[in-house]
Amino acid sequence: MSRDLAPRVQRSFSRSYSSYDDAASQQAWIANRLVQDLRDSGAPERFDVAFEMGCGTGHLTRRLCSNFEMRALTVNDLSPEAARAAKAAGATFLCGDALQMDWPEKPQLIASASMIQWLPDPARLLQRAARALAPGGWLAISGFGPEQYRELAHLGSHAGAPGLQSLADMAAALKDELDVFVTGERIREMHFPTPRCVLDHLRKTGVNGKAQGVWSKSRLAQFSADYSQRFGGPAGVTLTYHPVWIIGQKRN
Ligand SMILES: C[S@@+](CC[C@H](N)C(=O)[O-])C[C@H]1O[C@@H](n2cnc3c(N)ncnc32)[C@H](O)[C@@H]1O
Repeated sequence: MSRDLAPRVQRSFSRSYSSYDDAASQQAWIANRLVQDLRDSGAPERFDVAFEMGCGTGHLTRRLCSNFEMRALTVNDLSPEAARAAKAAGATFLCGDALQMDWPEKPQLIASASMIQWLPDPARLLQRAARALAPGGWLAISGFGPEQYRELAHLGSHAGAPGLQSLADMAAALKDELDVFVTGERIREMHFPTPRCVLDHLRKTGVNGKAQGVWSKSRLAQFSADYSQRFGGPAGVTLTYHPVWIIGQKRN
């Protein structure tokens, strides 16, 4: 991760730590789906060594713990607050940028939900994960695709996440090491009463909708008017999520 980006991402998620878990309903859906697909793909019920990156408040951690027996689970996050989720799960916590840290040796499971989009080059992390797995080990990872927050992109903001990538890019990064069993993606629209409520939702989930800098009152008013005009309807304004995910097993 670039030197500038990591501290900014960390500050945003640290600030939203107490609001994230309730507000992040889409990320909760994705964590569920990832674990369900991991089970349905034939993953074993027990892993000796498991590693999760970007655990946040523990949406994925909790689901992993209730679906699999993990003798040694290590979880990682940039934000020190995530130590709480690690403790609640009885996991070892590694604080810092997942790309830069030492990982547990030869994990049989590497998992991550809704984190890799914060990396400028998610393929690097995917490839490192594929190489790090024990032979026969499992990878379950989700990120977000190019339609993520398409409303914001239309209005000139990318909400700060540099690593939106297509499912094809994810699969290409892994194909040399893994047999891929599941590739999934969805377009999921949320509705909010007003564009300000969208910004509030983003803030509560650790995303800076105004990533391009501080906004004046008039810029905010213009943004709200443009948003309502282009993306408003009887149910309010939309905000699109585009989760993409992949499950694979390392070849022996
Ligand atoms: C959208 S949250 C997802 C949290 C959780 N996995 C979930 O599914 O709800 C993204 C998390 O990734 C963490 N994160 C972002 N970049 C990271 C990096 N380079 N290394 C480790 N964690 C990172 C953030 O601090 C944040 O907690």
